[in-house]
Amino acid sequence: MSTKLSGKVTIITGSGSGYGAGIATRFVAEGARVVIADLSGENAKKVAERLGCSWVQADVTKRLGWEAILKKAISTYGGVDVVVNNAGACYKNKPTLQVQESDFDLCMDVNARAILLSTSVIIPTMLVQNRGGSFIQIASTAADRPRPGLTWYSASKAAAVVATKSLAVEFAPHNIRFNSVCPVVGGTGMTHLFLGKEDTPENREAWLSSIPLGRFCQPADIANACAFLSSDDASFITGIDLKVDGGRCC
Ligand SMILES: NC(=O)c1ccc[n+]([C@@H]2O[C@H](COP(=O)([O-])OP(=O)(O)OC[C@H]3O[C@@H](n4cnc5c(N)ncnc54)[C@H](O)[C@@H]3O)[C@@H](O)[C@H]2O)c1
Repeated sequence: MSTKLSGKVTIITGSGSGYGAGIATRFVAEGARVVIADLSGENAKKVAERLGCSWVQADVTKRLGWEAILKKAISTYGGVDVVVNNAGACYKNKPTLQVQESDFDLCMDVNARAILLSTSVIIPTMLVQNRGGSFIQIASTAADRPRPGLTWYSASKAAAVVATKSLAVEFAPHNIRFNSVCPVVGGTGMTHLFLGKEDTPENREAWLSSIPLGRFCQPADIANACAFLSSDDASFITGIDLKVDGGRCC
């Protein structure tokens, strides 16, 4: 067993499915002590039981949710070293004139406000621990290369990327690092929302044709990037947005 992340207490939001579950699987394999946090308690419990780690049902758009996550990390593992803000939300791709304020709020709350709350609730504990820390935001290639019909999802991911850079500079004196990972489209629970038209093999093929390496992103691709950025191998890396996109943004 590899020990790249040995002992690092890691909170992974939205890890009841998709990329988050993939990140959790890799982190446990690397020796991290993981808290699975998800809006779906049922999915969180399932993943945690499979991996033999801790879990908590929590809404990352609420301060109370973050307080419950922190409490779980401290009561189970005694602290917190890494936060992966992976939970995300999007409305179904549609012309911007049909987008409702509730669609906008959903994207901004889950994809941006959750980052504010994570820092506000978790950083005070990291400062007291005085052993640094690492935050990773799962943003999107949409932050850099938006596609039509996803304007406010893309804008919320751009907010995540820019906030990450600013936080990286502000908390560098405390050795708390902040990086973003930007996936291209994958085959997870959210993928059907991104497709503009019907979710047909032809439409998926059209998206695929925009990815030079010729395949969709897999949870393991995102997990590899997160494991590296959380490890001591990346101790001098902060403020980057790492594209995991098969060349889509070139
Ligand atoms: N799938 C893609 O093509 C793709 C591409 C680029 C970026 N992303 C990003 O990757 C991340 C993971 O998404 P995924 O593709 O694995 O989708 P997914 O739907 O499989 O997983 C998202 C998870 O987030 C959880 N979640 C949603 N709102 C929450 C809340 N308020 N509090 C706590 N948990 C909440 C869901 O319950 C779910 O388990 C997201 O941030 C998404 O924006 C996905």
